[in-house]
Amino acid sequence: INITVIDREGNRTEGVEWKDFESLMEALTRHKYPILATCGGNASCSTCHSYLDQGSFAKANEINDEEEDLLDMLDDTRHDTSRLSCQVEWSEDLDGAEVTIAPEW
Ligand code: FES
Repeated sequence: INITVIDREGNRTEGVEWKDFESLMEALTRHKYPILATCGGNASCSTCHSYLDQGSFAKANEINDEEEDLLDMLDDTRHDTSRLSCQVEWSEDLDGAEVTIAPEW
């Protein structure tokens, strides 16, 4: 599928490929977006924090307790469509999603 990515400088890129064996974080880092992913995708560092567009947020796999706990600690930058991108699973329904990389904290 293809998604649109808005980086921390506000640059918007359409047609960013997301392959079906990748988490959203893996797709973003493969495209060299500056996400540290210090924990390697284990929902414990929050460096992969991103925002989804409303529609895609509703269609994405649900937030589990581990992710929720970490998002809770981000209070300043957490929005209503915040996700840890390492926990967002590929889905055909997310084709065309708009993903904004959250500020570094
Ligand atoms: Fe660490 Fe997602 S990569 S929380």
